[in-house]
Amino acid sequence: MKIAVLPGDGIGPEVTAEAVRVLEALSLPGLTLLEGDVGGVAYKRHGHPLPQETLDLAGEADAILFGAVGDPSCDTLERHLRPEQAILGLRKHLGLFANLRPARVFAGLEHLSPLRADIAAGLDMLIVRELTGDVYFGAKGRRVSEAGEHEGWDSMSYCEHEVRRIAHVAFRAAATSGLPLTSVDKANVLETSQLWRDVVIEVAGDYPQVALDHMYVDNAAMQVVSHPERFGVVLTGNLFGDILSDLASAAVGSIGLLPSASLGERTTAFGTFGLYEPIHGSAPDIAGQGKANPMATILSAAMMLRHSFGREAEADRIEVAVGKALADGILGGDLGGTYGTAAIGAAVRERL
Ligand code: IPM
Ligand code: MG
Repeated sequence: MKIAVLPGDGIGPEVTAEAVRVLEALSLPGLTLLEGDVGGVAYKRHGHPLPQETLDLAGEADAILFGAVGDPSCDTLERHLRPEQAILGLRKHLGLFANLRPARVFAGLEHLSPLRADIAAGLDMLIVRELTGDVYFGAKGRRVSEAGEHEGWDSMSYCEHEVRRIAHVAFRAAATSGLPLTSVDKANVLETSQLWRDVVIEVAGDYPQVALDHMYVDNAAMQVVSHPERFGVVLTGNLFGDILSDLASAAVGSIGLLPSASLGERTTAFGTFGLYEPIHGSAPDIAGQGKANPMATILSAAMMLRHSFGREAEADRIEVAVGKALADGILGGDLGGTYGTAAIGAAVRERL
């Protein structure tokens, strides 16, 4: 089982190291970890945020454990050389169109949420975010308007097949779990969203057992923090999914707790090839200080064991250990506690 470990920038290396220690503590036979450079770090070493050798490494691996990318000292580079292009490039290049972002309040930990405990208790949703299309990957540029002003432009579009394949992922998740499915769009304004909605309705025909509703994204944002219990599986596009998943993470209590899996169509000898990363960024303000909460990355490693290696039991062990650590008051600064990165990692390992 070959895992490409891509720690990246900022707190990426710190949180990834703890997730790797957790994987090692499970003593899985045949586990090989290979490290590669991505992001600002890769730009500084190789002149590109996603060097060819990293792409080769990713292509050979059965799964990728990704930290974070983003470095303020690179913000003035041309867009194609910025650290963020590493993750966007990997998603696109590897065809990882399905991003699963589970967000749930651990039982007994409702007080960690900034929401009222009775509201937070109902938060347990799976956001299924389309990851390789939308305004993220459309043409974009600068031009001079007729009035002589500088103008920035980005184009948003979805093709039927892109909507259809992500819709199937979400419907399958809803069908297996028995949860309702909410498709989030902005069909009252955007033609891209109207097509999205039409295709989702068409795909729904294959899943008569799934309860489907449609919601505009502004309303969805409001419902996530006022009535989170009404969501089971949430299906949405790249941009809306980016925003709603940060919102859901804040409602859980911290963005430092949310893992993600990015999957495509490729399978390996062990399961589905995938990239696993915390949904948070590189947090340059606390990088290198040993303060970052590694739980989101550790939980991403659990998702990897489940989806890419069929190791359901070990994935459960990690998730239970993280839940226990939280219940025992092992809280990072993000949750108002004093535990640092290494101490949190050790606490999770002790509870495996
Ligand atoms: C995420 C991040 C990325 C995104 C950035 C780093 C490009 O915010 O994974 O949610 O916008 O997809
Ligand atoms: Mg984001």
